[in-house]
Amino acid sequence: MSRKKITVVGAGNVGATTAQRLAEKDFCDVVLVDIVEGMPQGKALDLMQSGPVYGYDSKVIGTNGYEESTDSDIVVITSGLPRKPGMSRDDLLKVNAGIVKDVTLKAIAKSPGAMLIVVSNPLDAMTYVACKHSKLPAHKVMGMAGILDSARFRCFIAMELGVSVQDITAFVLGGHGDTMVPSTKYTTVAGIPVEDLIPKAKLDAIVERTRKGGGEIVALLKTGSAYYAPSAAAVQMCESILLDKKMILPCAVLSQGKYDGCDGLFVGLPAKLGEGGVEEVVKFKLSADESAALKQSAGAVKELCEAVDRLGF
Ligand code: NAI
Ligand code: 2OP
Repeated sequence: MSRKKITVVGAGNVGATTAQRLAEKDFCDVVLVDIVEGMPQGKALDLMQSGPVYGYDSKVIGTNGYEESTDSDIVVITSGLPRKPGMSRDDLLKVNAGIVKDVTLKAIAKSPGAMLIVVSNPLDAMTYVACKHSKLPAHKVMGMAGILDSARFRCFIAMELGVSVQDITAFVLGGHGDTMVPSTKYTTVAGIPVEDLIPKAKLDAIVERTRKGGGEIVALLKTGSAYYAPSAAAVQMCESILLDKKMILPCAVLSQGKYDGCDGLFVGLPAKLGEGGVEEVVKFKLSADESAALKQSAGAVKELCEAVDRLGF
């Protein structure tokens, strides 16, 4: 039986760290693609040489083309510019739409059966671009953001309560931007609703910090954006699909008939990921406030997608 293959497009911070985490998981081979000559090849060789020490047999190939990516099971798209200080995710729209369109066409030409996981920002709109140009059915295209935003929320709650992050379940829904919706109703600590454990004012502050979580790291790093948590989140999606784990994870998926205001959009919602890709968009009964906030967030995503169409991507 041949090993599964994941292609990671973009060998920068998120892409290279995703390739590293995948190689260390040892459940697939990895192809790392970038336009910078020599760089993906060098990083791939370095990762191959980590195998004997770390104990994995994953093959990692670096390339400036797509030949080696042929018949990938999953393509993770991380190519594009990251946010710089003072730059919104939306400023990235124009330049990254062109990049995502280009790499989607090239990757899918070699791997027509692949699933696509988009990471490039602005995330929800770039997932729409990838779906549009890949012509894949929507259940094979998804965006990574909700797991990251939820991980930030979980991390801050664990820090506040002094408990294990593993005890915290949380779902941040909506677009990957300032309008994202950390659902306190569906956030629990060892099964106890978080609203029973953290006073409202404190919880509101944690929600706000979560919404600005990406910007907080951009302001500290000064030369780029987060990549350890983003790559961990992308790998969790790959794992749930390749190992058919059927985890319910917040991801940017095409919504139809389940959440008010979200129909026809790729927006962060709870989704069951397995060998069939997005096997189900899971319906949560949101509070009236959360439902209204999700609708508003979906509206912001819709505006970006309309801008994508207007710009001709
Ligand atoms: P980076 O600048 O470190 O890496 C981007 C890489 O893409 C560079 O190596 C560049 O050469 C490559 N690239 C550019 N055009 C390409 C093309 N046509 N084909 C192949 N490779 C190409 O940036 P980083 O930090 O890895 O971030 C990548 C993207 O992911 C950014 O758009 C960033 O905003 C986004 N991001 C999204 C997150 C999310 O939650 N969805 C979280 C973190 C980052
Ligand atoms: C983040 O949330 C920049 O979208 C990226 O870290």
